[in-house]
Amino acid sequence: MPLHDDSSGLAMEPAARPGDPLDRVDTPSLALDLTVFDANLRTMQDWADRHGVALRPHAKAHKCPQIALRQLALGARGICCQKVSEAVPFVAAGVRDILISNEVVGPAKHALLARLARSARMAVCVDNAANLVQLSEAMSQAGVEIDVLVEVDVGQGRCGVTGPEAVLALARQAHDLPGVNFAGLQAYHGAVQHRRSREERAQVCREAARQAAACAQLLRDNGMACHTITGGGTGSVEFDAASGVYTELQPGSYAFMDGDYGANEWDGALAFRSSLYLLSTVMSTPAPDRVILDVGLKSTSAECGPPAVYGTPGLRCVAINDEHSVVRVEPGAQAPALGSVLQLLPSHVDPTFNLHDELVVLQDGVVHALWPIAARGLSR
Ligand SMILES: Cc1ncc(COP(=O)(O)O)c(C=O)c1O
Repeated sequence: MPLHDDSSGLAMEPAARPGDPLDRVDTPSLALDLTVFDANLRTMQDWADRHGVALRPHAKAHKCPQIALRQLALGARGICCQKVSEAVPFVAAGVRDILISNEVVGPAKHALLARLARSARMAVCVDNAANLVQLSEAMSQAGVEIDVLVEVDVGQGRCGVTGPEAVLALARQAHDLPGVNFAGLQAYHGAVQHRRSREERAQVCREAARQAAACAQLLRDNGMACHTITGGGTGSVEFDAASGVYTELQPGSYAFMDGDYGANEWDGALAFRSSLYLLSTVMSTPAPDRVILDVGLKSTSAECGPPAVYGTPGLRCVAINDEHSVVRVEPGAQAPALGSVLQLLPSHVDPTFNLHDELVVLQDGVVHALWPIAARGLSR
């Protein structure tokens, strides 16, 4: 049953309506502080502009077209998606430049990609010669052209070819095939993003940039232009932007920040603040030192630890089950009353967004809008 379809007379009311005060929002709900969020967007866009690199924020973090349109309005070149199906609601909402920052394998995905390429400039990553031929055939048959970026593994050990010679071979092949257009390199190092020390992140990023630059140099030495070198996440953009190697940055979480990123050491210029909260109700007060919240694993991810209780010292989430969180009330702290609404800080934003249908957008403590998380669940 669609969420707000009333044909059965049993439709769910939305969690809130514009103009509602915070304490009228039904829970569990995912809520965005619009003022902090907008400030985070501006900080990142200014940073990219100042360093002369394009910003292509990653939409896998939020899966919400309204957010992408806001980033584009501020100056972003386009967006990234991680899956082809994830891109569908963004193209439907009018986004016209999308990089699938990932390999795309299989006929069903190629067919969808070709359909999207009729409405938007689409690009994908490649790291395999046979896959590149299949992409070329599918796009040629559909009468469309897409950009391809050769993904180079700069240390993460995930997808990507290793070394400049392998990059050159795939780039040449893409150059010669119909339906695909060689556009450059993706050099993303996911493993560096959450290293806590700035110095350690800086060192790893220097090495990643050195490897990407060596690949681009070999391409140029062989007469091939490499217009784009894309990569970077929230934890590495400050170093990637300053490297002089990357032409485009792909951060996603910076707009929201989460508990895990909050534990990183940050430069003052890129002091992003938390804008995303889970609103949760105290649903049981079984003991003086323990209260139970209505948020569980079906409303928040917890692989980076349970969410933190925000702005209420002495309350700590110590266990999380499917539908409940157990909060310890430290000695001397005030236990919240039954029915009180607490704000929780998710430990990892991407999978948390994927658990919600809509985002309750708050401004000055009042509901400003509800934004659909339209790509939620689209992981094909
Ligand atoms: C290829 C790629 N680019 C960019 C990002 C954005 O990272 P973050 O949300 O940490 O900024 C990710 C995240 O996993 C990614 O996989």
